[in-house]
Amino acid sequence: MPIDFEDMQSIRISKLPPYVFTMINKLKKEARAQGMDIIDMGMGSPDLPVPKEVRDELCNAIHTKHINRYPAGDGIIELKRAIAYWYGKRFNVDINPSEEVVVLIGSKEGIANMSAAFLDRDDYALVPTPTYPIFFNSVIMFGGNLYNLPLLPENDFLPDLDSIEPGVLRRAKILYLSYPHNPTTVCVDKDYFKPIIPWAKEHRIIVSHDAAYTEICFDGYKAPSFMEVEGAKDVGVEFHSLSKTFSMAGWRVAFVVGNAKIMKILAKMKSYVDFGCFNAIQKAAVRALELNDEIIDETVAAYQRRRDVLCDGLDKLGWKHQRPKATLYVWAPIPEAFQEMTSLEFASLMIKETGVAVAPGVGFGEAGNGYIRFALVEEEARIQEALERLAKL
Ligand SMILES: Cc1ncc(COP(=O)(O)O)c(C=O)c1O
Repeated sequence: MPIDFEDMQSIRISKLPPYVFTMINKLKKEARAQGMDIIDMGMGSPDLPVPKEVRDELCNAIHTKHINRYPAGDGIIELKRAIAYWYGKRFNVDINPSEEVVVLIGSKEGIANMSAAFLDRDDYALVPTPTYPIFFNSVIMFGGNLYNLPLLPENDFLPDLDSIEPGVLRRAKILYLSYPHNPTTVCVDKDYFKPIIPWAKEHRIIVSHDAAYTEICFDGYKAPSFMEVEGAKDVGVEFHSLSKTFSMAGWRVAFVVGNAKIMKILAKMKSYVDFGCFNAIQKAAVRALELNDEIIDETVAAYQRRRDVLCDGLDKLGWKHQRPKATLYVWAPIPEAFQEMTSLEFASLMIKETGVAVAPGVGFGEAGNGYIRFALVEEEARIQEALERLAKL
Protein backbone atom coordinates (compact mmCIF):
# COMPACT_ATOMS: atom_id res chain seq x y z
CA MET A 1 0.00 0.00 0.00
CA PRO A 2 1.42 3.44 -0.86
CA ILE A 3 1.96 5.81 2.04
CA ASP A 4 -0.81 8.42 2.33
CA PHE A 5 1.33 11.55 2.55
CA GLU A 6 -1.75 13.79 2.42
CA ASP A 7 -2.81 12.26 5.69
CA MET A 8 0.63 12.92 7.18
CA GLN A 9 0.76 16.69 6.71
CA SER A 10 0.92 18.76 9.87
CA ILE A 11 -2.26 20.20 11.33
CA ARG A 12 -0.77 23.65 10.70
CA ILE A 13 -0.40 22.99 6.98
CA SER A 14 -3.79 21.33 6.63
CA LYS A 15 -5.40 24.38 8.27
CA LEU A 16 -4.10 26.70 5.55
CA PRO A 17 -6.76 27.87 3.09
CA PRO A 18 -6.32 26.64 -0.50
CA TYR A 19 -3.86 28.84 -2.39
CA VAL A 20 -6.18 30.48 -4.89
CA PHE A 21 -3.42 31.27 -7.39
CA THR A 22 -2.71 27.56 -7.77
CA MET A 23 -6.32 27.09 -8.95
CA ILE A 24 -6.15 30.10 -11.25
CA ASN A 25 -2.83 28.88 -12.68
CA LYS A 26 -4.42 25.51 -13.46
CA LEU A 27 -7.27 27.22 -15.33
CA LYS A 28 -4.81 29.38 -17.26
CA LYS A 29 -2.82 26.29 -18.22
CA GLU A 30 -5.94 24.49 -19.43
CA ALA A 31 -7.06 27.52 -21.46
CA ARG A 32 -3.60 27.88 -23.01
CA ALA A 33 -3.56 24.19 -23.88
CA GLN A 34 -6.72 24.88 -25.89
CA GLY A 35 -4.89 27.61 -27.81
CA MET A 36 -6.31 30.57 -25.90
CA ASP A 37 -4.21 33.75 -25.59
CA ILE A 38 -4.26 34.64 -21.88
CA ILE A 39 -4.03 38.28 -20.86
CA ASP A 40 -2.63 37.78 -17.41
CA MET A 41 -3.57 40.40 -14.84
CA GLY A 42 -3.66 37.92 -11.99
CA MET A 43 -0.53 38.04 -9.88
CA GLY A 44 1.21 41.31 -9.06
CA SER A 45 4.35 40.09 -10.78
CA PRO A 46 5.91 43.13 -12.52
CA ASP A 47 6.66 42.80 -16.25
CA LEU A 48 8.77 45.98 -16.47
CA PRO A 49 12.51 45.54 -17.17
CA VAL A 50 15.15 45.86 -14.46
CA PRO A 51 17.58 48.67 -15.56
CA LYS A 52 20.76 47.64 -17.33
CA GLU A 53 22.96 49.17 -14.62
CA VAL A 54 21.40 46.87 -12.02
CA ARG A 55 21.73 43.80 -14.22
CA ASP A 56 25.34 44.75 -15.01
CA GLU A 57 26.08 45.07 -11.30
CA LEU A 58 24.76 41.55 -10.77
CA CYS A 59 26.98 40.24 -13.59
CA ASN A 60 30.05 42.02 -12.20
CA ALA A 61 29.37 40.69 -8.72
CA ILE A 62 29.03 37.14 -10.04
CA HIS A 63 32.62 37.32 -11.27
CA THR A 64 34.13 38.45 -7.96
CA LYS A 65 36.09 36.20 -5.64
CA HIS A 66 34.27 34.49 -2.75
CA ILE A 67 30.85 35.47 -4.09
CA ASN A 68 29.68 31.85 -3.92
CA ARG A 69 30.08 31.65 -0.17
CA TYR A 70 27.16 31.76 2.22
CA PRO A 71 26.00 35.35 2.64
CA ALA A 72 25.86 37.15 5.99
CA GLY A 73 22.43 36.17 7.30
CA ASP A 74 21.01 39.63 7.89
CA GLY A 75 22.62 41.43 4.95
CA ILE A 76 25.88 42.97 3.75
CA ILE A 77 26.80 46.31 5.29
CA GLU A 78 26.97 48.09 1.87
CA LEU A 79 23.30 47.30 1.29
CA LYS A 80 22.30 48.18 4.85
CA ARG A 81 24.01 51.55 4.41
CA ALA A 82 22.27 52.11 1.06
CA ILE A 83 18.92 51.28 2.71
CA ALA A 84 19.56 53.71 5.57
CA TYR A 85 20.61 56.42 3.10
CA TRP A 86 17.48 55.77 0.97
CA TYR A 87 15.26 56.05 4.07
CA GLY A 88 16.83 59.36 4.98
CA LYS A 89 16.43 60.74 1.47
CA ARG A 90 12.92 59.45 0.81
CA PHE A 91 11.29 59.75 4.26
CA ASN A 92 13.66 61.90 6.27
CA VAL A 93 14.01 59.06 8.77
CA ASP A 94 17.25 58.20 10.54
CA ILE A 95 18.07 54.51 10.38
CA ASN A 96 21.15 52.96 11.98
CA PRO A 97 22.45 50.57 9.30
CA SER A 98 24.17 48.25 11.78
CA GLU A 99 21.29 47.75 14.17
CA GLU A 100 18.07 48.79 12.52
CA VAL A 101 18.10 46.95 9.18
CA VAL A 102 17.70 43.32 8.18
CA VAL A 103 17.96 42.30 4.53
CA LEU A 104 15.39 39.71 3.47
CA ILE A 105 14.88 37.12 0.73
CA GLY A 106 11.68 38.96 -0.21
CA SER A 107 9.36 40.56 2.29
CA LYS A 108 7.10 37.49 2.19
CA GLU A 109 9.94 35.59 3.86
CA GLY A 110 10.45 38.38 6.39
CA ILE A 111 6.77 38.57 7.34
CA ALA A 112 6.58 34.78 7.70
CA ASN A 113 9.63 34.84 9.97
CA MET A 114 8.13 37.71 11.94
CA SER A 115 5.14 35.52 12.83
CA ALA A 116 7.46 32.59 13.54
CA ALA A 117 9.70 34.68 15.80
CA PHE A 118 6.99 36.26 17.94
CA LEU A 119 3.81 34.17 18.03
CA ASP A 120 3.13 31.40 20.51
CA ARG A 121 0.04 29.23 20.92
CA ASP A 122 -1.73 31.72 23.18
CA ASP A 123 -0.94 34.85 21.17
CA TYR A 124 -3.07 36.75 18.72
CA ALA A 125 -2.03 38.55 15.56
CA LEU A 126 -4.40 41.31 14.44
CA VAL A 127 -4.84 41.16 10.68
CA PRO A 128 -7.03 43.40 8.51
CA THR A 129 -9.07 41.45 6.00
CA PRO A 130 -8.96 41.27 2.99
CA THR A 131 -5.18 41.38 2.81
CA TYR A 132 -2.07 40.05 1.13
CA PRO A 133 -2.23 36.38 2.22
CA ILE A 134 1.13 35.96 3.98
CA PHE A 135 -0.19 37.95 6.95
CA PHE A 136 -2.93 35.47 7.84
CA ASN A 137 -1.19 32.39 6.46
CA SER A 138 1.96 32.97 8.52
CA VAL A 139 -0.12 33.25 11.70
CA ILE A 140 -1.80 29.92 10.91
CA MET A 141 1.50 28.29 9.87
CA PHE A 142 3.33 29.21 13.02
CA GLY A 143 0.58 28.29 15.41
CA GLY A 144 -0.65 31.72 16.58
CA ASN A 145 -4.26 32.83 16.69
CA LEU A 146 -5.67 34.95 13.91
CA TYR A 147 -7.96 37.88 14.72
CA ASN A 148 -9.49 39.35 11.58
CA LEU A 149 -10.14 43.08 11.44
CA PRO A 150 -12.73 43.53 8.68
CA LEU A 151 -12.16 46.43 6.29
CA LEU A 152 -15.66 47.83 5.88
CA PRO A 153 -16.99 50.63 3.66
CA GLU A 154 -18.49 52.41 6.70
CA ASN A 155 -14.93 52.72 8.14
CA ASP A 156 -13.42 53.83 4.80
CA PHE A 157 -11.96 50.32 4.56
CA LEU A 158 -9.68 50.99 7.56
CA PRO A 159 -9.46 48.56 10.52
CA ASP A 160 -11.42 49.57 13.62
CA LEU A 161 -8.97 49.00 16.49
CA ASP A 162 -11.64 49.98 19.05
CA SER A 163 -13.73 47.00 17.99
CA ILE A 164 -11.15 44.44 19.21
CA GLU A 165 -12.46 42.30 22.06
CA PRO A 166 -10.63 43.05 25.36
CA GLY A 167 -9.67 39.38 25.81
CA VAL A 168 -8.04 39.37 22.39
CA LEU A 169 -6.33 42.71 22.92
CA ARG A 170 -4.72 41.39 26.12
CA ARG A 171 -3.21 38.49 24.18
CA ALA A 172 -2.39 40.38 20.96
CA LYS A 173 1.29 40.60 20.05
CA ILE A 174 1.39 41.88 16.46
CA LEU A 175 -0.73 44.25 14.40
CA TYR A 176 -0.09 43.74 10.69
CA LEU A 177 -0.76 46.88 8.64
CA SER A 178 0.09 47.69 5.05
CA TYR A 179 -0.46 50.98 3.16
CA PRO A 180 -0.92 51.62 0.26
CA HIS A 181 -3.04 48.54 0.66
CA ASN A 182 -3.13 45.38 -1.40
CA PRO A 183 -5.79 44.48 -2.56
CA THR A 184 -8.16 47.38 -1.74
CA THR A 185 -5.63 50.10 -2.85
CA VAL A 186 -6.67 52.24 0.15
CA CYS A 187 -4.06 54.88 1.07
CA VAL A 188 -3.45 56.73 4.32
CA ASP A 189 -1.63 59.89 5.33
CA LYS A 190 0.94 60.24 8.11
CA ASP A 191 -1.69 61.33 10.66
CA TYR A 192 -3.41 57.97 10.37
CA PHE A 193 -0.45 56.30 12.07
CA LYS A 194 -0.13 58.78 14.94
CA PRO A 195 -2.72 57.39 17.42
CA ILE A 196 -1.58 53.84 16.71
CA ILE A 197 1.74 54.41 18.49
CA PRO A 198 0.40 55.18 22.02
CA TRP A 199 -2.25 52.47 21.50
CA ALA A 200 0.48 49.92 20.69
CA LYS A 201 2.54 51.02 23.71
CA GLU A 202 -0.45 50.75 26.03
CA HIS A 203 -1.31 47.23 24.87
CA ARG A 204 2.29 46.04 24.27
CA ILE A 205 1.70 45.28 20.61
CA ILE A 206 4.28 45.25 17.81
CA VAL A 207 3.18 47.29 14.81
CA SER A 208 4.44 45.65 11.65
CA HIS A 209 3.89 47.87 8.64
CA ASP A 210 4.41 46.54 5.14
CA ALA A 211 5.25 49.40 2.79
CA ALA A 212 5.62 47.39 -0.42
CA TYR A 213 3.79 50.02 -2.51
CA THR A 214 4.89 53.39 -1.06
CA GLU A 215 6.84 54.12 -4.26
CA ILE A 216 4.09 53.22 -6.73
CA CYS A 217 1.89 56.30 -6.27
CA PHE A 218 -0.05 58.28 -8.86
CA ASP A 219 -1.27 61.82 -9.55
CA GLY A 220 1.40 63.37 -7.32
CA TYR A 221 0.39 61.42 -4.19
CA LYS A 222 3.35 60.41 -1.96
CA ALA A 223 2.66 57.61 0.48
CA PRO A 224 4.11 58.06 3.99
CA SER A 225 6.32 55.66 5.88
CA PHE A 226 5.14 54.46 9.29
CA MET A 227 8.70 55.24 10.45
CA GLU A 228 8.14 58.96 9.80
CA VAL A 229 5.88 59.15 12.82
CA GLU A 230 7.50 60.01 16.13
CA GLY A 231 7.83 56.96 18.35
CA ALA A 232 7.33 54.44 15.52
CA LYS A 233 10.67 52.77 16.22
CA ASP A 234 9.61 52.20 19.84
CA VAL A 235 6.76 49.95 18.76
CA GLY A 236 7.48 48.57 15.38
CA VAL A 237 9.09 47.78 12.09
CA GLU A 238 8.51 48.46 8.43
CA PHE A 239 8.97 46.09 5.50
CA HIS A 240 10.01 47.23 2.03
CA SER A 241 10.60 45.24 -1.09
CA LEU A 242 12.55 45.71 -4.29
CA SER A 243 10.00 43.45 -6.00
CA LYS A 244 7.56 46.18 -7.04
CA THR A 245 9.65 49.34 -6.64
CA PHE A 246 12.40 48.09 -8.94
CA SER A 247 10.46 45.29 -10.72
CA MET A 248 12.85 42.74 -9.16
CA ALA A 249 10.19 40.30 -7.88
CA GLY A 250 12.05 37.18 -9.01
CA TRP A 251 15.37 38.33 -7.54
CA ARG A 252 14.02 37.89 -4.02
CA VAL A 253 15.41 40.85 -2.17
CA ALA A 254 13.69 43.07 0.38
CA PHE A 255 14.38 44.57 3.78
CA VAL A 256 12.90 45.51 7.11
CA VAL A 257 13.86 48.49 9.27
CA GLY A 258 12.89 49.66 12.73
CA ASN A 259 13.20 48.69 16.36
CA ALA A 260 16.70 47.31 17.00
CA LYS A 261 15.52 44.62 19.45
CA ILE A 262 12.90 43.34 17.02
CA MET A 263 15.58 43.32 14.29
CA LYS A 264 17.82 41.19 16.49
CA ILE A 265 15.07 38.65 17.18
CA LEU A 266 14.07 38.50 13.52
CA ALA A 267 17.73 38.05 12.49
CA LYS A 268 18.06 35.27 15.09
CA MET A 269 14.99 33.50 13.64
CA LYS A 270 16.39 33.86 10.13
CA SER A 271 19.80 32.56 11.15
CA TYR A 272 18.20 29.23 12.04
CA VAL A 273 16.23 29.02 8.80
CA ASP A 274 18.30 30.57 6.00
CA PHE A 275 21.63 32.18 5.15
CA GLY A 276 20.17 35.35 3.70
CA CYS A 277 19.99 36.79 0.23
CA PHE A 278 22.71 35.90 -2.34
CA ASN A 279 25.51 38.48 -2.02
CA ALA A 280 25.56 39.26 -5.77
CA ILE A 281 21.87 40.16 -5.64
CA GLN A 282 22.49 42.33 -2.59
CA LYS A 283 25.20 44.23 -4.50
CA ALA A 284 22.80 44.78 -7.41
CA ALA A 285 20.17 45.97 -4.91
CA VAL A 286 22.62 48.67 -3.75
CA ARG A 287 22.80 49.90 -7.36
CA ALA A 288 19.00 49.92 -7.68
CA LEU A 289 18.64 52.02 -4.53
CA GLU A 290 21.30 54.43 -5.78
CA LEU A 291 19.49 54.85 -9.11
CA ASN A 292 16.13 55.14 -7.34
CA ASP A 293 14.60 58.27 -8.90
CA GLU A 294 15.54 57.39 -12.46
CA ILE A 295 13.88 54.00 -12.15
CA ILE A 296 10.85 55.01 -10.12
CA ASP A 297 9.71 57.87 -12.35
CA GLU A 298 9.52 55.62 -15.40
CA THR A 299 7.92 52.78 -13.46
CA VAL A 300 5.24 54.99 -11.95
CA ALA A 301 4.50 56.64 -15.31
CA ALA A 302 4.03 53.22 -16.93
CA TYR A 303 1.65 51.99 -14.21
CA GLN A 304 -0.27 55.24 -14.22
CA ARG A 305 -0.86 55.01 -18.00
CA ARG A 306 -2.02 51.43 -17.57
CA ARG A 307 -4.28 52.39 -14.69
CA ASP A 308 -5.88 55.08 -16.83
CA VAL A 309 -6.50 52.71 -19.74
CA LEU A 310 -8.04 50.13 -17.43
CA CYS A 311 -10.12 52.49 -15.30
CA ASP A 312 -11.38 54.52 -18.29
CA GLY A 313 -12.34 51.26 -19.96
CA LEU A 314 -14.10 49.90 -16.87
CA ASP A 315 -15.97 53.22 -16.61
CA LYS A 316 -17.18 52.81 -20.19
CA LEU A 317 -18.31 49.27 -19.41
CA GLY A 318 -20.19 50.61 -16.38
CA TRP A 319 -18.06 48.38 -14.13
CA LYS A 320 -17.77 49.98 -10.69
CA HIS A 321 -14.30 50.30 -9.15
CA GLN A 322 -12.04 52.69 -7.26
CA ARG A 323 -9.43 54.48 -9.41
CA PRO A 324 -6.32 53.72 -7.31
CA LYS A 325 -4.02 56.45 -6.00
CA ALA A 326 -1.27 53.86 -5.55
CA THR A 327 -0.27 50.16 -5.95
CA LEU A 328 -0.35 48.14 -9.15
CA TYR A 329 -3.92 47.00 -8.73
CA VAL A 330 -7.52 47.87 -9.46
CA TRP A 331 -9.99 46.37 -6.97
CA ALA A 332 -13.44 46.00 -8.44
CA PRO A 333 -16.70 44.48 -7.22
CA ILE A 334 -18.12 41.69 -9.38
CA PRO A 335 -20.53 43.33 -11.87
CA GLU A 336 -24.19 43.20 -10.88
CA ALA A 337 -25.15 40.74 -13.62
CA PHE A 338 -22.80 38.16 -12.07
CA GLN A 339 -23.32 38.86 -8.40
CA GLU A 340 -24.72 35.41 -7.73
CA MET A 341 -21.25 34.02 -8.35
CA THR A 342 -18.36 33.73 -5.90
CA SER A 343 -15.20 35.61 -6.82
CA LEU A 344 -13.51 32.33 -7.72
CA GLU A 345 -16.40 31.30 -9.99
CA PHE A 346 -16.39 34.70 -11.66
CA ALA A 347 -12.59 34.75 -12.14
CA SER A 348 -12.82 31.23 -13.60
CA LEU A 349 -15.59 32.34 -15.97
CA MET A 350 -13.44 35.31 -17.07
CA ILE A 351 -10.55 33.00 -17.99
CA LYS A 352 -12.73 30.47 -19.77
CA GLU A 353 -14.85 32.97 -21.70
CA THR A 354 -12.41 35.82 -22.34
CA GLY A 355 -8.89 34.60 -21.57
CA VAL A 356 -8.47 37.49 -19.12
CA ALA A 357 -6.94 36.28 -15.84
CA VAL A 358 -7.49 38.25 -12.62
CA ALA A 359 -7.15 37.45 -8.91
CA PRO A 360 -10.41 36.39 -7.23
CA GLY A 361 -11.02 38.47 -4.10
CA VAL A 362 -11.38 35.38 -1.90
CA GLY A 363 -7.64 34.79 -2.35
CA PHE A 364 -7.15 37.72 0.04
CA GLY A 365 -9.49 36.27 2.67
CA GLU A 366 -13.22 35.54 2.86
CA ALA A 367 -13.91 39.30 3.10
CA GLY A 368 -12.58 39.67 -0.44
CA ASN A 369 -15.38 37.59 -1.88
CA GLY A 370 -17.56 39.73 -4.13
CA TYR A 371 -14.49 41.39 -5.64
CA ILE A 372 -11.78 40.70 -8.17
CA ARG A 373 -8.34 42.34 -8.47
CA PHE A 374 -6.72 43.38 -11.74
CA ALA A 375 -2.91 43.69 -11.64
CA LEU A 376 -1.44 46.28 -14.03
CA VAL A 377 1.24 43.92 -15.30
CA GLU A 378 0.28 43.88 -19.00
CA GLU A 379 1.07 46.59 -21.55
CA GLU A 380 -1.53 49.23 -22.44
CA ALA A 381 -2.50 47.61 -25.76
CA ARG A 382 -3.09 44.29 -24.00
CA ILE A 383 -5.18 45.98 -21.33
CA GLN A 384 -7.21 47.61 -24.10
CA GLU A 385 -7.71 44.22 -25.68
CA ALA A 386 -8.74 42.75 -22.31
CA LEU A 387 -11.41 45.44 -22.06
CA GLU A 388 -12.71 44.62 -25.55
CA ARG A 389 -12.98 40.97 -24.58
CA LEU A 390 -14.68 41.82 -21.29
CA ALA A 391 -17.27 43.92 -23.15
CA LYS A 392 -18.47 40.66 -24.72
CA LEU A 393 -18.96 38.87 -21.38
C1 LIG B 1 1.60 43.84 0.55
C2 LIG B 1 2.64 42.93 -0.01
N1 LIG B 1 3.68 42.59 0.76
C3 LIG B 1 4.64 41.76 0.31
C4 LIG B 1 4.57 41.23 -0.96
C5 LIG B 1 5.65 40.27 -1.39
O1 LIG B 1 6.80 40.94 -1.65
P1 LIG B 1 8.17 40.17 -1.87
O2 LIG B 1 8.27 39.89 -3.34
O3 LIG B 1 9.19 41.13 -1.38
O4 LIG B 1 8.13 38.91 -1.07
C6 LIG B 1 3.51 41.55 -1.80
C7 LIG B 1 3.44 40.97 -3.13
O5 LIG B 1 2.50 41.12 -3.87
C8 LIG B 1 2.52 42.42 -1.30
O6 LIG B 1 1.47 42.75 -2.04
